[in-house]
Amino acid sequence: SKGNHKHYMLKEIYEQPIVVAQTLRSYLKRMEGEVSLPIPEFDLSTIKRVTIVACGTSFYAGMVAKYWFEQFARVPVDLDVASEFRYRAPVMEDGGLALFISQSGETADTLAALRHAKAEGQKIAVVVNVPTSSMAREADLLLPTHAGPEIGVASTKAFTCQLAVLAALAANLARAKGLLSKEQEREIVRHLSEAPAALNGALAYDEAIEAMAHNIAGARDVLYLGRGTDYPLALEGALKLKEISYIHAEGYAAGEMKHGPIALIDEHVPVIVIAPSGPLFDKTVSNMQEVMARGGKVVLISDYDGIQAAGEGCMATITMPKVHPLIAPLVYAVPVQLLAYHVAVLKGTDVDQPRNLAKSVTVE
Ligand code: F6R
Repeated sequence: SKGNHKHYMLKEIYEQPIVVAQTLRSYLKRMEGEVSLPIPEFDLSTIKRVTIVACGTSFYAGMVAKYWFEQFARVPVDLDVASEFRYRAPVMEDGGLALFISQSGETADTLAALRHAKAEGQKIAVVVNVPTSSMAREADLLLPTHAGPEIGVASTKAFTCQLAVLAALAANLARAKGLLSKEQEREIVRHLSEAPAALNGALAYDEAIEAMAHNIAGARDVLYLGRGTDYPLALEGALKLKEISYIHAEGYAAGEMKHGPIALIDEHVPVIVIAPSGPLFDKTVSNMQEVMARGGKVVLISDYDGIQAAGEGCMATITMPKVHPLIAPLVYAVPVQLLAYHVAVLKGTDVDQPRNLAKSVTVE
């Protein structure tokens, strides 16, 4: 049931601290300061390359994972949406791991891509939320998310749980490759363990985000910008907004703005900038200032320090708790979900059942 919430989507957004904690429990040995897999005997040390395939929001989780696998495990990563992967001629080397990410475990294109990779001799890993699904059954390495049933068509809690599993997988891969000291592993476990509390911290800004939604509800077009792992978050924010509020939105890598889309900027196109404090903050802020110099109306989502440093002149700011960059994608998923949700409510759309969409896309 929806409990006290008006929509399943809102209920599921609010479940995130609990279900992420629940999911992490199978991937972290908190006391020992170790990451682990549900199938500990699966040998990750020989994996030479990872091919990540998914659709929609699950694809954006995969995109975040690409940054992590490269950064922590130094493994080359190919990444594609399933509907492209299965119809091109992807080159998969021997000793590769093909990783499929899906809430339902039944998405037709992703399942067909999995079968193709299997026929090509790849080891098959799946991150799925439905343990009885086709993808779960066909995997060599089953990595479940424990988000519980997701009813709202727009994926929310499945996404943050996917990120939790993928971060743990990246750390497991790094350890198997001998790239993680005990101390680094302990640090990763510590940061991931902080995610549930940080998600709660993010949810505390719900009312402020709801108030802010009025600034967006009248727009025809909205841009989302981010760098690094916040780039997939920008894409996810745009997807959430378009699918439930029917406002045209696009996500862009902040550094790509000046290669075209900046031509769109005027006072009618709100620009949502996702920029937590961290190594890429200054770079993203300089792109944000280019937008502001052209009359663009910016909503900056950052932490207190980031907003102190760069919030001046923004149309609005959304403050997030200050978190380690590893868990920032999980935490910053919350404001983009809530923003899309409140805009959709203001517009009076059917939030849980957006037009033309199905929860599980079992046809291609
Ligand atoms: C967006 C959304 C979709 C799904 C996509 C993949 O909010 O829900 O983009 O993420 O259809 O579905 P799964 O994860 O079930 O394969």
